[in-house]
Amino acid sequence: MSEHTFLKGPKNWWRQAVVYQIYPRSFADANGDGIGDLKGIISRVEYLKQLGVDAVWLSPHYPSDLADGGYDVADYRDVDPRIGTLAEFDEMVEKLHAAGIRIFVDIVPNHSSDQHVWFQEALKAKPGSPERDRYIFRDGKGETGEIRPSELTSHFGPTGWTRITEPDGTPGQWYLHLFAKEQPDFNWDNPEVREDFLKTIKFWSDRGVDGYRIDVAHALTKDLKDGHLPARNSYDLKVMKNDGSDDLFDRDEVHEIYKSWRQVFNQYDPPRVAVAEAWVHPNRRAAYASEEGLGQAFGFDLLGQLWDHKGFRKTIDFQLKEAESFGSSTTWVFSNHDVVRHATRFGLDKESLANLPKWFRSVDREKKINFELGSQRAKAATMLVLALPGSTYLYQGEELGLHEPLNIPSEQMQDPQWFRQEGSISRDGCRVPLPWTSTGSSFGFGPGGAHLPQPEWFKEVNVEVENKDEGSSLNLYRLALALRKQLVTDEKLEWINHFGQKVLHFRRPNGWESFTNFGNKPVKAPAGRVILTTNKLVDGKVPANTTVWLQR
Ligand code: NOJ
Ligand code: CA
Repeated sequence: MSEHTFLKGPKNWWRQAVVYQIYPRSFADANGDGIGDLKGIISRVEYLKQLGVDAVWLSPHYPSDLADGGYDVADYRDVDPRIGTLAEFDEMVEKLHAAGIRIFVDIVPNHSSDQHVWFQEALKAKPGSPERDRYIFRDGKGETGEIRPSELTSHFGPTGWTRITEPDGTPGQWYLHLFAKEQPDFNWDNPEVREDFLKTIKFWSDRGVDGYRIDVAHALTKDLKDGHLPARNSYDLKVMKNDGSDDLFDRDEVHEIYKSWRQVFNQYDPPRVAVAEAWVHPNRRAAYASEEGLGQAFGFDLLGQLWDHKGFRKTIDFQLKEAESFGSSTTWVFSNHDVVRHATRFGLDKESLANLPKWFRSVDREKKINFELGSQRAKAATMLVLALPGSTYLYQGEELGLHEPLNIPSEQMQDPQWFRQEGSISRDGCRVPLPWTSTGSSFGFGPGGAHLPQPEWFKEVNVEVENKDEGSSLNLYRLALALRKQLVTDEKLEWINHFGQKVLHFRRPNGWESFTNFGNKPVKAPAGRVILTTNKLVDGKVPANTTVWLQR
């Protein structure tokens, strides 16, 4: 396909890449309808280039009814007309590639949208038909089939089964959905489903897509043998078996699917890569990241991490070792479209952090945030991981040091989790459209409004303001990514221990060192030329909550 652009390069370009996540509907809006679009992304390629990212990852850009922010896909091989066209997608890939930036897209293989043509066909077809077999349809229990087939809750509500009305108008079968009822789960025992996803990854790979982020990668294969149906009332990891035999998640046979995807990935030069979103027991994560599998897996361990040098050290050591055992490299993540922005998280007290939904639902939640401390710690934490081997996934807006917007009235929220799952958090805050300027109807997000309300303080925190401010978070990120490009060579790391001090200090090849002060008092800076710091050194001392990079 000669009209598509491919970015050549080393096979392992992703091992220490900085990947910037774009939530397309909230990044930049070119036509002013309040929804971010591909033209908007195209208009910001220069911004991404100046920021210095190696790749972008696009959350779903497919046609969708938006029951779950696009994670309900109606057509895996097209673009949502509200955000663009396939031709614009190609143009975006071309512009990104011309700027030296690679692209990941999201693949959502566990479930489709209920608007997907296959699900619509299934509704019209008969129980037991091939159309129904692409999903998980079962008869209900009880005299008239009125009781759901198994005691299964969903992530977004009390039940993981929804009953349909048969074409003749009678109450009919039930279908399984681990998420919203608009997200029916595929039956991965069906070869047609397997074939179709191979077709999808070929489709996008042929259009120049370099990598994939795999949604709920651990849920595809379920134990449905001999009439068995999974039951569950909690998605706590503690409930999941960690030996590959759980009936719902992380079953050993899921890796057969990824092996077949790998065969497709390896037909390209450089081979395509994928990163698994797999909420599994940490000791089972690396299997998704093997060379025969997807290549990488998200390490989410730092998401709940307290500001504590011992905790950080333990997690870092674990993640590095674990990825190495499978010949992969690890990933560092502090923020994404599903979690409260990390500047805000790091500003919370221990109690709030331990029970985020409780904090989120408390009337005085803003009072419980120490904004300045959160900003300091978030920057220090991000600079720390950017100095580590492995790849770092950044979430749009974190380069501006954004806190979580907390001004969204409940009636304007869109997240099904908020409405349907008792005691949960709304993920809308981190999905508020980005501020590019101090003025304008949507702070430069676009010429119109924004699909979620933006807070007043975007007047002071935005790209325009931060461009001009040498000490801004944006300029810190730019410096960090530029330095990283020069400094990253191999994946070696050597710890330098400072007993009795709350610091983490390590050395990378070519005399590059990173030093983080986790304590609340300044500590003596190590020798070396300071090349980056999240706070100015005072009298040769590194202030509290600060990371500094040095060159020896
Ligand atoms: C994980 C995605 O990150 C999240 O946004 C989504 O709701 C679920 N998977 C279901 O697709
Ligand atoms: Ca738009």
